[in-house]
Amino acid sequence: MGDIQKKTYHVTTFGCQMNEHDSEILAGMLEENGYVKGKDRKNSDVVILNTCSVRENADKRFFGTLGQLKKTKEARPEYTVCVCGCMMQQQHIIDTIKQKYPWVDIIFGTHNMHEFPKLLESVMSERKKITDVWGEAGDIVEGLPAKRLYKHKSFVNIMYGCNNFCTYCIVPYTRGRERSRAPEDIIAEVRDLVADGVREITLLGQNVNSYKGRSRSAENEKIWDFADLIYALNEIEDLERIRFMTSHPKDLSDKLIQAYADCDKLCNYIHLPVQSGSSRILREMNRKYTKEHYLELIGKIKKVAPDITISTDIIVGFPGETEEDFEETLDLVKKVEYDSAFTFLYSIRKGTPAASYENQIPEDIKHERFNRLVELINSISAVKNKAYEGRVEKVLVEGESKTNKKTLTGRTEGFKPVNFEGSKDLIGRTVKVRITEGKTFSLFGEVITDGPKTE
Ligand code: 5AD
Ligand code: SF4
Repeated sequence: MGDIQKKTYHVTTFGCQMNEHDSEILAGMLEENGYVKGKDRKNSDVVILNTCSVRENADKRFFGTLGQLKKTKEARPEYTVCVCGCMMQQQHIIDTIKQKYPWVDIIFGTHNMHEFPKLLESVMSERKKITDVWGEAGDIVEGLPAKRLYKHKSFVNIMYGCNNFCTYCIVPYTRGRERSRAPEDIIAEVRDLVADGVREITLLGQNVNSYKGRSRSAENEKIWDFADLIYALNEIEDLERIRFMTSHPKDLSDKLIQAYADCDKLCNYIHLPVQSGSSRILREMNRKYTKEHYLELIGKIKKVAPDITISTDIIVGFPGETEEDFEETLDLVKKVEYDSAFTFLYSIRKGTPAASYENQIPEDIKHERFNRLVELINSISAVKNKAYEGRVEKVLVEGESKTNKKTLTGRTEGFKPVNFEGSKDLIGRTVKVRITEGKTFSLFGEVITDGPKTE
């Protein structure tokens, strides 16, 4: 017989980019401990389900997936089932798992992810079950390895948690208060990534533009704000693109808007969640801005960066939303002319203030409004994308298209997906593409140069 077979793992991620990045770290820690990626959930030795409590139906999908693992666990008792992420920060979820899904081996939360290898080790050696969820975050843990999903682009966490308590949102309860990493740690991480071939970074946080990073330098005690960080990262040689997610309109400073003009690496793109176009609903949501204030911000951004592409998040059917409130949202969408938008049907999150509001909106009305909103957004996207026809865009080539092996796919600076024919050698490079067709959700084009990586 040859070497002892290495143990395999499989991670399933529900939810947002923060979770995707946490999964990269979980995989990185496992690989550092000698595990290798398994073929699928059923045939791996250790499975992790990294959960989300924000996205619609993510909880149903999670419990559905967990149910499917029962048979495998019965057939192979050494099969190790681990669950983590936002949902585990809620006691009622832990209770449900223990009652109805007793085959789970490890339950851990968002604040002690770095301890996962230690928890796994004790479960493996003692074959006991562990629940270890911290109610509060400890200090930020630096230097965790990550197994990156992509070679040429990478997520970089800059802050964790949220202090905003929007009345519909569970995040402040599951991810805790805002904590920012030291600027030196972020810059060092980005330099390392760039040295490893990364060309595009996405700075991650629940509310990146309220970043407040205390410098580690003794003589420079200054607190860095988000714009300071962007200006500093813009100086890193061989880094081509800087993106960030997600920002809150109330924290969007003039200094950050100016960075769009001054920092050539900051992509001409902003995701600025508005949630509703009605100032009355925005107040009920505790968003701390009005429709007028939001539109004023958009005006300022467009003035500094006329070609910017803009996307947003919108919730339809928040408790008490009237037809008039909803029409304010439609009006705002028309005024901003979003390139794209994530639309959500309001749904109750246990433990949030809005969950106990009495004036919940009936499902049929929510759906009817949702459909009208999506139709409007799509019609605007279609017109905007059509206007790209004939334009030449710089595209960072990400890989082969999932549906057609002959086609490559990448994104413009404005985050629009572009499909085009080309050789695989172009993956990881920035090429010029002439757009030949602009559809509602993507662009099609042809490469006009495969020359130097940036021009
Ligand atoms: N119902 C519907 N959508 C929600 N979001 C957050 N909480 C809820 C909820 N209870 C949406 C918001 C947020 C996005 C990530 O998820 O639009 O920006
Ligand atoms: Fe949730 Fe509001 Fe914080 Fe965003 S800003 S994570 S919507 S509480």
